[in-house]
Formats: sequence, C-alpha cells, structure tokens
Amino acid sequence: MHLPDFKVAKTTTKSDYKKVNYQLDKKYQNYFANKKCYLKTYGCQMNEHDSENIKGILEELGFTFTDNYEKADLILLNTCSIRENAHNKAFGMLGRIKHLKSSKPNLIVGICGCMAQEEVVVNTIMEKYRFINFVIGTHNFYDLPNVLIKSVKEHKLQVEVYSREQDLFEHVPVDRASKIKAYVNIIYGCDKFCTYCIVPYTRGRQRSRAKEDILDEVRKLKEEGYKEVTLLGQNVNAYGKDLYKDYSLAELLEDVAKTGIDRIRFMTSHPWDFTDKMIEVIAKYDNIMPSIHLPVQSGSNRVLKLMGRRYTKEQYLTLYHKMKETIPNCTISTDIIVGFPTETEEDFKETLDLVKACKYDNAFSFIYSKRVGTPAAKLKDDITKEEKENRLYTLNDELNRYFLLNNQKLVGKKVKVLVEGLSPKKRGEYYGYTDTNKLINFTSEEDVVGKIVSVVVTEAKTWSLDGKISE
Ligand code: SAH
Ligand code: SF4
Ligand code: F3S
Repeated sequence: MHLPDFKVAKTTTKSDYKKVNYQLDKKYQNYFANKKCYLKTYGCQMNEHDSENIKGILEELGFTFTDNYEKADLILLNTCSIRENAHNKAFGMLGRIKHLKSSKPNLIVGICGCMAQEEVVVNTIMEKYRFINFVIGTHNFYDLPNVLIKSVKEHKLQVEVYSREQDLFEHVPVDRASKIKAYVNIIYGCDKFCTYCIVPYTRGRQRSRAKEDILDEVRKLKEEGYKEVTLLGQNVNAYGKDLYKDYSLAELLEDVAKTGIDRIRFMTSHPWDFTDKMIEVIAKYDNIMPSIHLPVQSGSNRVLKLMGRRYTKEQYLTLYHKMKETIPNCTISTDIIVGFPTETEEDFKETLDLVKACKYDNAFSFIYSKRVGTPAAKLKDDITKEEKENRLYTLNDELNRYFLLNNQKLVGKKVKVLVEGLSPKKRGEYYGYTDTNKLINFTSEEDVVGKIVSVVVTEAKTWSLDGKISE
C-alpha cells in the first residue's frame, strides 16, 4: 500500500529517474483472456494518450474492450482533477458502478489518472468506496498488471500511488485511437506551480524524454503511415531543461521536422518559456503547423501575479505579435479562467480587452475551480457564482465573435486539410483539420480519408468551416 501525499509531491526535487524498457512478465500474458474492459478517459490529451498505453498494456494481458460498462469484467476510470466538475463526473460514474457491482460481485473496478494522486480522493475511496479493487497513480501506471492481478488474488482494495516520480518507461505497448494522427510524449510533469493548478501535484516534476526516443517514435509513426504527430507535455516549452545543456524545444522541433512527417503540432506552451528561436523554427518548416496554443489565463497583471504566471499582459502581447509577424498565417488559441479569487470587474474588463487585442481563433474558457492543496485555495473566493457565470457568458460571447470573424475571412480561400474521416453529422461529407487547426466539413467525390487535400471554404461558422474539395 502506497498512499499519495501532496507535501511529498510538492517538495520533490529533480530525481535521478532511470530509463526502463517496459516488459510484461511472460506468465501474465493473456492472463485475462476472454475478459472485457471498459476504459473511460477524462481530462486532457495527456490522459488520452496514457489511455492508449493502458489499452496496449491491457491487451497484452488478454483484454478486449467494450463501450458498454455493464458488459465489462474490468472497469477502469482514467481520471482528471483539473476542475471540480471532472471530479463530479468520475464520482457520478462510481455511483453507477457501485450499483452494478452489487449484482456482479466479480467485477473488477480500478481508478487511475490524476484523481488517484489526490489525498482527498484516496481518503474518500478508502472510507466510502471500498468496493473499488485498486487505485494506481500516474507515476506507476506501468505497474498496472501487478496491481491488477494482486487485487484479484487478494480480494481487497489495493492502493498503489507514489507521490514521487518513478522511472521513465520506454517501449510501453500502445493502441492508438487514430491511424492518421498520433500523440508523442516529450515531457512529463510540470514545475510551474501556477497557484490555482493541481497538475504539478498530480504529475510531478518536469522530466524530458530523451530526444533519440522521441525521434525514433516519430520515424516509426511515419513509416506506419501516420500523417501528423502532436508533441505532448504540460509545458512543452520546458523540453530539455532537465536533460540537456543546449537542446531545447526549438532543436527538437527542427529534428522532428527533418524526419519529413507531414504535420507537427505541439501542446501546451507556457508563454514564459517561448523563445525567439522556437518561433523562427516554426516559421522555417512547412511541416510545423502554424497554430499555437498559448494560454493567457487573464488580462489583468494583478491577477496574473496572483496566479503565479510569471508574465505580464504586455509581455504576452509582445510574444503574441512576434508570433503573428514571424509565422505566416499563424493562428493562436488560448485558455482563460474567470472568477479567480479577488478578480474585480475592472480585472475582468482587462481580460476582455486582451481578447479584443488578440482576436483568438479558438479558446477554452473556465470558471475558476478551487483545488484542495493549491496555494490559491487559501485565497478568499469572494465572487458570487452568479457573477462568475455572467463573466463566463460575456467572455464567451466576445470569444465567439472573433472565432466567426476569423473564419469568415477564409471564405473563398483554399485551405490544406488532413482528412480524418466521414463526417458523423452529414452523410457523404468528410471532415478534417486545416493546417491552422480549424475543423472543416467538406464534400468530395473521391475517398480522401487519411490524405492531405486542398479544400475551398464555402461557409464560415463559429466553430467550424464548410467547404468543397478543390479540383
Ligand atoms: N499546462 C497548460 C494547462 C493545462 S490545464 C498551461 O499552463 O498552459 C488546462 C487549462 O485548465 C489551463 O490552461 C487553465 O485555463 C485551466 N485550469 C487549470 N486549473 C484550473 C482551475 N483550478 N480552475 C479553472 N480552470 C483551471
Ligand atoms: Fe498547471 Fe501552470 Fe503547469 Fe499549466 S503551467 S500545468 S496551468 S501549473
Ligand atoms: Fe486533468 Fe491531469 Fe490532464 S488533472 S487536465 S488529466 S494532467
């Protein structure tokens, strides 16, 4: 039994983690033959990609997968802690599972992901959700086979959650959701400790993957026919700092570009670490997509300081303009939090002004959610729920206006689209993403799935474009 401890999670210094090749103990191969798993993923792309690895691991154990949790022998929830509603969703699901388990006592139930790293969550599980078979943390999910099998053999709740980073695993089996685009981890964890954010506690300190391993993975994906890779990390711009003297995201992007893979994206970028060299490299290579996710969080310097974001509105705008001027056709998206403790109407107006200045192409907006254990949780949350909702509503109105205006500028123009499949909404139409990361539905006589094609934009909507394939 290992229980999570935020104090340890917070104080860990750079650990001497080893690189280890994942290998399943032969005796466990197909141990669960003919068993079905329902794997539910909450949260960000990092969790989505972890789930692709978890799927790979479980397949070696013999599992197949089902979309119906009532038919499953194993239910595994890969959870997210970022906001309270992510918690509520997972606990809501646990309520339904508890009901199912009363009629299916052999059902195995496991929790992994970021919520598993939280003391409050694990304490609640140990008090009120003892029907769960195992809890496994983000730092040791590679040990899933052992924890799962132990929980089955011993018939009692296993909690295996390490607060400190463990070894860095390579060659973990993977079952990717797409055959066209793929996620590639480049850096784990986060050292930024923005005051509202739980990620540094649930994902540990920054650990970069060796460049050779990343480049090998990209080359292999290209050989397998993948068209796009997204380099993943909570703050990809910190890549290399813990591992190399003069090899950063700029050099990595350049080396990945040279593999010749058609499209490269990366996320997420913290404005603080964005260097001029990175901007130059993005501008130089056609296969690095001109679309950057650059979370700003707030337009008020006072709030940014309280958030611990380490940049001012002015510095952000300078960076923004540098990107727009240097990278042809560059689109920029962002994340914004409203209702951070003490945010005044004036602070909020500054956020609206920043949105007006940046005219974002896409954005994710959130109401501040207090996370236990983070520094901001100690600040007085003095804004009413109604006020927070009003601010979100006003913000979204403003954001949406620019999404539409930007999209309207593309009508009549030709855009390059990586086609992902047949549109789930309209029969006979295809959908894909432009180089600038805009969703487009379009008509084509020919089957173009998996190809990069030219499409003429015929109509602009707020969150997508319509078009027809260009001859
Ligand atoms: N590493 C990324 C963000 C990851 S979390 C970055 O720093 O850019 C994704 C987004 O969730 C954040 O950008 C932020 O806008 C939002 N978020 C994080 N913690 C939150 C909280 N406690 N309440 C509301 N939104 C939050
Ligand atoms: Fe959270 Fe800040 Fe790290 Fe992003 S950079 S994951 S918001 S602590
Ligand atoms: Fe959620 Fe963890 Fe990602 S908290 S947003 S799943 S890193």
